[in-house]
Amino acid sequence: MKTFDPEAYREMVRSFQERDDPTGWFDSIYSDAEGDHNAVFWADLAPNPYLIEWLRENPVASSGKRAIAIGCGVGDDAEAMSEAGYDVTAFDIAPSAIALCKSRYLETKVDYLVADLFDYPEEWSEGFDLVYECNTIQVLPGKYRAQAMNAMVSLISQDGDLLVSCRSRNSDEEQDAIPLPLDKEEMDSFVHLGLVEKRFLAYDDDQKPAVPHFFSTYVKE
Ligand SMILES: C[S@@+](CC[C@H](N)C(=O)[O-])C[C@H]1O[C@@H](n2cnc3c(N)ncnc32)[C@H](O)[C@@H]1O
Repeated sequence: MKTFDPEAYREMVRSFQERDDPTGWFDSIYSDAEGDHNAVFWADLAPNPYLIEWLRENPVASSGKRAIAIGCGVGDDAEAMSEAGYDVTAFDIAPSAIALCKSRYLETKVDYLVADLFDYPEEWSEGFDLVYECNTIQVLPGKYRAQAMNAMVSLISQDGDLLVSCRSRNSDEEQDAIPLPLDKEEMDSFVHLGLVEKRFLAYDDDQKPAVPHFFSTYVKE
């Protein structure tokens, strides 16, 4: 297993982005973990507390409700949605991430699969009552961010919900950062795409130093 070197990581991501291959590096993060989900540097290994709170406040009304976790990483959030009663599809472009999820959750009800947000199976279109995105937009560059947001919205069924969790920044800060956090203007793209914003939370996480985040929820009315 390789030791995590933040500067080498940024250099590697930058080199993929410069050759317009924005998703070509993700698999290496999981394959470098060599089968150990504890070794994936960005994985919290626990579900997002704001997702848990939302699931508690919005209990599943009937059986057969479908949820999807975008760029599901090592699977904690997908498992939380499944435990809350959703039929969950969780996908990631990195085959080694999906292999980790399957080895980690041997008894899972979640359908884990390799897929690309930019070219997802046609039958997923408007197919999900709950769409969950955590930290994927911020690791994409330039035009791919808007493309990703469009694709996310296209997965939501009528009256369905979108939950977005990400790092945040003020508009005049960190413009070249990797990952590049979202500002409020970029988050508002979801509203420009026709969703109704239900809740918008800006908060600092408990790392030292604290990292600013957004957690926002939208509905497709
Ligand atoms: C920063 S990680 C976040 C993982 C997880 N959501 C979490 O919060 O721990 C971003 C994830 O998005 C995945 N990803 C990036 N582009 C993708 C795409 N086009 N389609 C599907 N997954 C993608 C990556 O492989 C990676 O697992």
